[in-house]
Amino acid sequence: MRAEAPPPGVDLTEAPFELPDRFKKAVIDKLYELEWRRYPALRQPEVKEKVASFFGIDPGAFLLTRGADEALRLAFQHAGSRGAALALPDPGFFGFLRTARALGVEFDHYHVPGELPSASLLRLPVLCSPNNPSGHALSMADVQGVCARSEGGAGPLLDLTYDFFADRPLHKNLNELLSFGVISCISFSKSFALAGARVGMLVATPEIIEEVAEKNDRFGLDYFQLAVLDTLFDRRWDRERESMVEWVRSTRSEMVGILSDLLPGDALGPCQGNFIPVHISGVPDTFVRDLVEATACKVHPSSELLRITVNDFSLAGIRKLRSGPALAR
Ligand SMILES: Cc1ncc(COP(=O)(O)O)c(C=O)c1O
Repeated sequence: MRAEAPPPGVDLTEAPFELPDRFKKAVIDKLYELEWRRYPALRQPEVKEKVASFFGIDPGAFLLTRGADEALRLAFQHAGSRGAALALPDPGFFGFLRTARALGVEFDHYHVPGELPSASLLRLPVLCSPNNPSGHALSMADVQGVCARSEGGAGPLLDLTYDFFADRPLHKNLNELLSFGVISCISFSKSFALAGARVGMLVATPEIIEEVAEKNDRFGLDYFQLAVLDTLFDRRWDRERESMVEWVRSTRSEMVGILSDLLPGDALGPCQGNFIPVHISGVPDTFVRDLVEATACKVHPSSELLRITVNDFSLAGIRKLRSGPALAR
């Protein structure tokens, strides 16, 4: 895997490396064999079987989507079509707002970490674990609590884009989440370095999946996306998948170690994703500026938060800061 720095100023929590050339070649070889003049099959039993077996769920309980973005749009659309408004986390992913607005689905906010709203048929919470940008993760008990307090069997929407990096990933319990009524959105962009391929999935009961698929494009994924997924979930790539996630988790620990030497004790937020949240209210402005420059991180002014993506570029940047003059605390 080649490690590469993102261009300064761009912090989209993208993966810090490319998949190996062998992987890309395997995808291209698959594509080469296909007849491009043909529409892709409406259902993809073989690819779905591989993905289903990786997650240990029924092939009828998910839809392959163009990234978590599409899964979120479909989940929001589904909620809106039933007359529900959404409760979005604050601070939260800007895409939640954008999608809700674009679809004309009503929304309000709840504050995280701390608040865990219950679900009702009229107000569905969108949970994100680990949450972008605050970094905190939810436990199964947290999600179960939301579902237990929900009215009329309404399940929350759960965004698991960064879940592969969490200490206790929730995607390992998808069947249990399904039994609570949760609708989950999964991304392979960050965990498996595939943001450019646009692949993810929506997980819900087979009844909801049928209903959502009925309203979606007939040909969801193209040949390239299907070949990427077919390759990714081949057992042959088990080791690569695991090592990508492991690299992020161990580099994150190293970065947290350095940052906790550099920053006041309460500045670091929970770190369960491929990014590190830093609360800047007690940090001198000059140091905040240095940190932003050294890591090309995103600033969230309204929540006084920096979000530093775990990659070689930020690691090198904070190592350099550590070797500079100590920060007066
Ligand atoms: C919380 C959250 N959900 C969804 C997405 C979109 O992911 P994808 O690339 O799979 O569409 C992002 C991207 O940054 C995100 O931060």
